Amino acid sequence: MTGIPTLTAHDGTTLPAIGLGTWPMDDAQAEEAVSGALADGYRLLDTAANYRNETGTGRGIARGGVPREEIVVTTKLPGRHHGHDETLASFEESRRRLGLDRVDLYLIHWPLPRVDRYVDSWKAMIKLREEGLVRSIGVSNFTVEHLTRLEAETGVLPAVNQIELHPSLPQDDVRAFHTDKGVLTESWSPLGRGSGLLDDPAIGKIAETHGVTPGQVVLRWHVQLGAVPIPKSADPGRRRTNLDVFDFELTPDEMTAVANRPRRRLGGDPDTHEEF
Ligand SMILES: NC(=O)c1ccc[n+]([C@@H]2O[C@H](COP(=O)([O-])OP(=O)(O)OC[C@H]3O[C@@H](n4cnc5c(N)ncnc54)[C@H](OP(=O)(O)O)[C@@H]3O)[C@@H](O)[C@H]2O)c1
Repeated sequence: MTGIPTLTAHDGTTLPAIGLGTWPMDDAQAEEAVSGALADGYRLLDTAANYRNETGTGRGIARGGVPREEIVVTTKLPGRHHGHDETLASFEESRRRLGLDRVDLYLIHWPLPRVDRYVDSWKAMIKLREEGLVRSIGVSNFTVEHLTRLEAETGVLPAVNQIELHPSLPQDDVRAFHTDKGVLTESWSPLGRGSGLLDDPAIGKIAETHGVTPGQVVLRWHVQLGAVPIPKSADPGRRRTNLDVFDFELTPDEMTAVANRPRRRLGGDPDTHEEF
């Protein structure tokens, strides 16, 4: 297996081209998965205050024994803490649970447009970055409209937008905006989270051609789109194969075939989804 390439955002933020998702692991599962993943070469980790596993993630990092500066630790602000001062307080709680001096990537988990406080949270996140408590700041589940508003009102565009992205939801419009602005795209539910995607015969055929698994074909599709997938696996064998996607290449026809399926959202619509 070759090394994991990195991608760079408009502000110089760099991310490994693939990471580990930790939802819906509990603390004990996250500790086990994170320490094992670090040993296997994962360097990008994804947790959130709302996953209730930041403590386990932090323990896994401590157990992993990998130099701290090599790891990109991501966590997210929950909806109940939107607002300027609430964001600063929530961040301190996350940092304490993780047991870290600094968080590498801090994201607003959902925009909650009806609540309409994400701009206030964003201003607090800019402050956290200026104080050096957070290395990079970004968002999750933001639409082009939400991103444009952040830039218009603060002059600061997120380094990363983590969105639902898989072959049934390729998000061409949001990705085109990201590419134009230098915002890195992270893909959540990259494997289609148990939706049957990996049992699709068309993907199975491509996997056979390359001598890889259907999961590797789908993760390679993300890599070739320029998006950073964060597959969750509690299984050490699947975690290792998920990381091993840098030694083969899909043809343009195979890229098209992977995404040639009915469009389908597995999670909430960012314009209306509310989660606190
Ligand atoms: N920002 C957001 O709003 C948001 C929303 C949802 C998720 N996320 C993040 O994105 C991460 C990933 O998304 P997700 O967990 O929804 O979906 P996913 O990564 O697409 O799918 C995870 C499921 O696929 C299985 N799996 C993993 N590798 C596999 C492989 N190679 N072959 C077959 N099955 C495999 C896992 O089971 P095993 O564990 O048994 O391997 C698990 O059931 C989450 O963990 C979380 O960190 C963010």
